Amino acid sequence: MQLDKAIKSRRSIRKYKSLSPNWKDILEAIDSARYAPMAGNVFTLNFMLVDDKEKIEKIAVLSSQQFISEAKYLVLFLTDPSRTINAFGEVDGDKFCKQQAGAAIQNFLLKIEESELSTCWIGLFNERKIKQLLKIPEKYNIEALFPIGVAGEIPKDRNLRELDNFLHFNTFSNRRMKEIKKPEGRYPEGFK
Ligand SMILES: Cc1cc2nc3c(=O)[nH]c(=O)nc-3n(C[C@H](O)[C@H](O)[C@H](O)COP(=O)(O)O)c2cc1C
Repeated sequence: MQLDKAIKSRRSIRKYKSLSPNWKDILEAIDSARYAPMAGNVFTLNFMLVDDKEKIEKIAVLSSQQFISEAKYLVLFLTDPSRTINAFGEVDGDKFCKQQAGAAIQNFLLKIEESELSTCWIGLFNERKIKQLLKIPEKYNIEALFPIGVAGEIPKDRNLRELDNFLHFNTFSNRRMKEIKKPEGRYPEGFK
């Protein structure tokens, strides 16, 4: 799949078929996260793949998002911010840890899309209780959860606003890349 197509066709899917995804595709998607840029090349991520049905059901309850329980697999992105905090201090270290998790997650999402699997970024969940359930050591944060399945729905078209609304040139609110200067004198034919 072309990169542009994967970027544009990726959507959050919240209904999954009973078909089981190929776990090798999921591992490949997780592996792609390792290639994301990391501040100072300090790698802060860990990953967990869960296929235990009971655990997935408990996590759906602990996230108050029932659709998660339909997924055959769940991937967790974990971070250890102490590593970037040691390298860059509290404020930048914490920020970099979150930013590089986001970059790694996008690699993962695009590989999931390329494999024609579906997922939804889950950011709302009871982190403390899920950490207990999965025996995740205290120092790790759960950045996000990803139920993985075969799409069982077609999402509504998204309402993307045009780039012009968010793009500035040189100064905030300047929407034009270059001042267009009309030539002096008589305009050539077709020039307004
Ligand atoms: C940081 C973050 C947290 C999110 N948390 C949730 C969530 O807990 N539950 C959910 O259903 N979707 C969640 N989403 C998915 C967004 O709702 C979704 O990406 C957005 O509506 C755009 O739709 P699209 O992914 O189909 O383009 C989250 C997305 C991000 C980036």
